[in-house]
Amino acid sequence: MDATALEGEARTAIDGAGSTDALEELRVRYLGRKSELKLALREVRDRETGMALNAARTAIEEAFAEREATLAAAAREELEPFDVTLPGEPVRRGRLHLITQIRREIEDIFLGLGYGIFDGPEVDTVYNNFTALNTPEAHPSRDPQDTFYVDDDTVLRTHTSPGQIRAMLSQEPPVYVVSLGRCYRRDTPDPTHTPTFHQVECLAVDEGIRLSDLRGTVETFFRALFGEEREVRMRTSFFPFTEPSVEFDVTCFLCGGAGCNVCKQSGWIEMGGAGMVDPNVFEEVGYDPEVWSGFAFGFGIERIAMLRHGFPDLRLLWENDLRFARQF
Ligand code: PHE
Repeated sequence: MDATALEGEARTAIDGAGSTDALEELRVRYLGRKSELKLALREVRDRETGMALNAARTAIEEAFAEREATLAAAAREELEPFDVTLPGEPVRRGRLHLITQIRREIEDIFLGLGYGIFDGPEVDTVYNNFTALNTPEAHPSRDPQDTFYVDDDTVLRTHTSPGQIRAMLSQEPPVYVVSLGRCYRRDTPDPTHTPTFHQVECLAVDEGIRLSDLRGTVETFFRALFGEEREVRMRTSFFPFTEPSVEFDVTCFLCGGAGCNVCKQSGWIEMGGAGMVDPNVFEEVGYDPEVWSGFAFGFGIERIAMLRHGFPDLRLLWENDLRFARQF
């Protein structure tokens, strides 16, 4: 058998193979167990023939490897034609959480009214959260059943009202601040309660501040948030740190006061608590209650989100399901 002729023939065939399938067929033909070359190698009796046949085998193997690499490169190019002028893969843009969006909107409204933003810590002293707010030792909200205690003197704040104390201790009157952020209570989660939630606290202290100023501010605020047609009403209530205390309702922004499911047919939606700052609180922070008067109000941000968008369960805000979060 002519090893050189075989090698030449194989080379030509291999270089002409147009696909890996064709190449595999040729591999069987030229290097397979029953190929001419392998049969000849098995029969070899002398050193010279052996060397010639082995040289041919090596050359053919190399020819296969080369052709294989060429075909693979061509296939890659065909699969991924690369055009550097094409735009890149779009990256999906994130967005702010609904609560953050509303929080910023609320901040903007108050900044427009001339208020400053005051940030208070979520972990605060029992003193700031209760005692300085004229809340007696035996008040039910102090109960470990209702409040997360870090230690005897430290709590996860149960409302944003300790921000009032911190704001007043940090500056001389007049004071116009809003304080927004997370609060914590030992609630079992249900559609209208989560142990973590957000509040907005508003505090105004000046000479001659009256209940009508509170009413006007609440009204202005809710009209900015929910539309010019909103009306506000106040009902008497009780909070240890305000006197008198009220709760305020806003006309339902879905039905405009006619009555619907959201307002439970009453035409009004309960929004939050408020009142005139109790003289005891002023004394606690060293403001003279004979000179200064003020109002405070507070309300929940989740509630606003829920009512505005008409979703039925507060817990959706905490589940991080993007199908929900992306809607806003
Ligand atoms: N802090 C009260 C609450 O959590 C609300 C409130 C704020 C009441 C300010 C009066 C004045 O319910």
